[in-house]
Amino acid sequence: MAKFLITSALPYVNGVKHLGNLAGSLLPADIHARFRRQTGHEVLFLCGTDEHGTPTELAAQAAGLPVAEYCLCQHAIQADIYRRFGLSFDHFSRTSGDANRLLTQELFRHLDAAGYIEPRIIRQAYSSTDKRFLPDRYVVGTCPHCGNPNARGDQCENCTRLLDPDDLVSPRSAISGATDVEFRETRHLFLKLSAFEGRLRRWIETRRDWPALVHSIALKWLDEGLKDRCITRDLTWGVPVPKPGFEGKVFYVWFDAPIGYIAAAVEWSAAASGRDWRAWWQGGDDVRYVQFLAKDNVPFHAISFPATILGSGLPLKLPDVIKGFNWLTFEGGKFSTSGQRGIFTDTALALLPADSWRWWLAANAPENGDADFTIERFVDGVNKDLADTFGNLVNRCLAFAAARFDSTVPEARDAGAAEDKLAVELGTRLERLRGHHEALALRKAAEEVRSIWRLANAYLADAAPWTVIKEDRGRAAAIVSTAVNLVRVAAVAGWPFIPSAAAEVLRSLGEDAELVPWLEDGKEALSAIPAGRRFRVPSLLFPKVAAGDLATAACRPPA
Ligand code: MF3
Ligand code: ZN
Repeated sequence: MAKFLITSALPYVNGVKHLGNLAGSLLPADIHARFRRQTGHEVLFLCGTDEHGTPTELAAQAAGLPVAEYCLCQHAIQADIYRRFGLSFDHFSRTSGDANRLLTQELFRHLDAAGYIEPRIIRQAYSSTDKRFLPDRYVVGTCPHCGNPNARGDQCENCTRLLDPDDLVSPRSAISGATDVEFRETRHLFLKLSAFEGRLRRWIETRRDWPALVHSIALKWLDEGLKDRCITRDLTWGVPVPKPGFEGKVFYVWFDAPIGYIAAAVEWSAAASGRDWRAWWQGGDDVRYVQFLAKDNVPFHAISFPATILGSGLPLKLPDVIKGFNWLTFEGGKFSTSGQRGIFTDTALALLPADSWRWWLAANAPENGDADFTIERFVDGVNKDLADTFGNLVNRCLAFAAARFDSTVPEARDAGAAEDKLAVELGTRLERLRGHHEALALRKAAEEVRSIWRLANAYLADAAPWTVIKEDRGRAAAIVSTAVNLVRVAAVAGWPFIPSAAAEVLRSLGEDAELVPWLEDGKEALSAIPAGRRFRVPSLLFPKVAAGDLATAACRPPA
């Protein structure tokens, strides 16, 4: 049986992430990891914080902390939030750790030895006031094409033209505003991406099962021709470049960040005996590697990281599937970290249970296009699906069963045609649900879960044990037994999406809530809990939400 290596894009360490970040990689990766564990596969689910780069340095500066200390603290904050969101990482790593430094340097040495690294002299903006080289986006000035006075060194947002920093008229530092920007020559190392064009194209063209979004972004890059990329920077925070003549330089954050996926496995492996990261990263066809990420990350995962791996000549895995996501927008506009616009993960947890957010974000994932989060749609969705459908099923069924059958699962001797029909339909739906999960079709999987919940409610409403019991206690017992089993099915099918509520329901039924195995067969699923088992009624799982409860959700002091 295949093993699944699953990674979510590593969130930048600088600051708490918003719901868009959660929806576009972390959450779908977790749901898939849970589903694969449920179906009995061995899973290694890895993530971590992406800690290098200029934005992190600047954020540390703004916080008045040494950058290493800042990262340590912010990493802990994010790790805690993700734990509370139920993200079931096997390990949550840090790209600034030793493992990633050593691996990054090792991969670089292999690339260099294989001739894929080339020193070149480039002109870089330098500010004496800031005492540093300024990366392209930290140089601003007037656009030579349209006159926009605030164009960035990499692109003018007004006329969208791509720029080089020295195209800018009157350049200044975006960090300090200093106008003493000069262009100095400095030697850097380039990864010869162009050398990988053929190999990458052949590889990507055979990946017919990738989402169209990912395929088209990757092919567009190839069609435009791969440009060699500068992979070093004149900074102190980062992985030091291990090459004579390049002392004092570090790797570009996008060179070392994806290597962090491998480093995470190395750390996981070192943390306990019996674990071997090689069995995952150097595994053969028995390991399927699935990456989850937002669309702006596609080029790095489909082009530059694969080139790093191929060029190193090391026997490391390339992804089997890259599951890319579009954007989640917030009330018609962008979620924005710098603008602190939208709902952030820490605020979300303070307002409602993690499962409410998980459910809505998965059911409305920006999968085949952008998706818009509005408080109104969210409130409507979670009330209907979680309070009225899932929560209501659990409560109505178990409360009745507890009252009339002494909190004990009754015998189902008088099951009949209605239960047979239900079993068939349930079997079909479970099979479809499995198919959607396997196809990484998150929204469809959520829809199918919702259908299963509705099917269960409809059965209970039609069978009406509260009426039947007046005349036929045996028949009512069969209905109640079936319905209690349906509650279990509802929890098991929902578990990847709403793990804590599902676990609470399973515990109340006396089931194992840690290991939640998949349901194969409708008929079996309806008789899994033995008669005579005691259960309890869980407390209210999903109270109704009012839009007013979320009035403060999007309020944050400016960063
Ligand atoms: N930090 C990046 C982002 O949020 C993602 C890094 S993914 C990795 O866009 F591959 F580099 F790790
Ligand atoms: Zn312009």
